[in-house]
Amino acid sequence: MPTSTPRPSQRPASNPIRLIGIILLAIVVLLGLAVLITWLVVKPKRLVYTIENSSVKDYNFTNDHLSGTFDFTVRSYNPNKRVSFYYDSIEATVNYNDQTLAFSTVEPFYQRHRNVTRFNVEFVAKNTALPSFVAKDFLLEKATGKVQLDIWLKARIRYKVGAWKSRHRTLRVSCSPVFEFNRFKNLKRTYCSTEL
Ligand SMILES: *[C@@H]1O[C@H](CO)[C@@H](O)[C@H](O)[C@H]1NC(C)=O
Ligand SMILES: *[C@@H]1O[C@H](CO)[C@@H](O)[C@H](O)[C@H]1NC(C)=O
Ligand SMILES: *[C@@H]1O[C@H](CO)[C@@H](O)[C@H](O)[C@H]1NC(C)=O
Repeated sequence: MPTSTPRPSQRPASNPIRLIGIILLAIVVLLGLAVLITWLVVKPKRLVYTIENSSVKDYNFTNDHLSGTFDFTVRSYNPNKRVSFYYDSIEATVNYNDQTLAFSTVEPFYQRHRNVTRFNVEFVAKNTALPSFVAKDFLLEKATGKVQLDIWLKARIRYKVGAWKSRHRTLRVSCSPVFEFNRFKNLKRTYCSTEL
């Protein structure tokens, strides 16, 4: 009668849990790779914002109160080859020394890949009171003929890759055009910083 030595019990497929574990791990790794490859292929690039030109009308600054219509032409460039953007709402403010001078909104739009869209933002300040220390700075700077304003845009956007659309994200754009007050124009094209 042959004596059967007991087989070592670690090798055989008697361990289905381990097999399932290995398969799950492989699936996770493959999914991760797929996401990474998609990301590398799509590679969203930063949106490029500039202020092309601007103008001021009906400007009046009396007793620390500011009135005027400030107009800005904003250029938005989407450098992406495969990503397009929905701008669902855009809020804009014009600021001086962290004081908001006026508020405005921009019409929603859809921006295709590699598209340049220009839009105007018009701010109307009606007798806006400035704190006296800000007003003092403003007058001092204005006396030199140049004043730096800040334009902030805050947009609710979604991006689209193929048929896939992302959730809402907040895009922040910040531009600091320098005004030449004698001519009521901004001096040169202003590049903005963007944050998504
Ligand atoms: C900027 O220049 C363009 C073309 O000259 C003009 O149509 C637009 O009204 C200007 N925008 C502002 C804010 O002055
Ligand atoms: C500027 O505003 C002040 C105070 O509101 C007013 O008295 C003055 O007439 C205005 N000047 C012009 C040129 O509109
Ligand atoms: C960008 O898209 C807008 C709206 O779809 C269109 O009117 C405009 O002509 C496009 N501009 C370029 C440079 O493709």
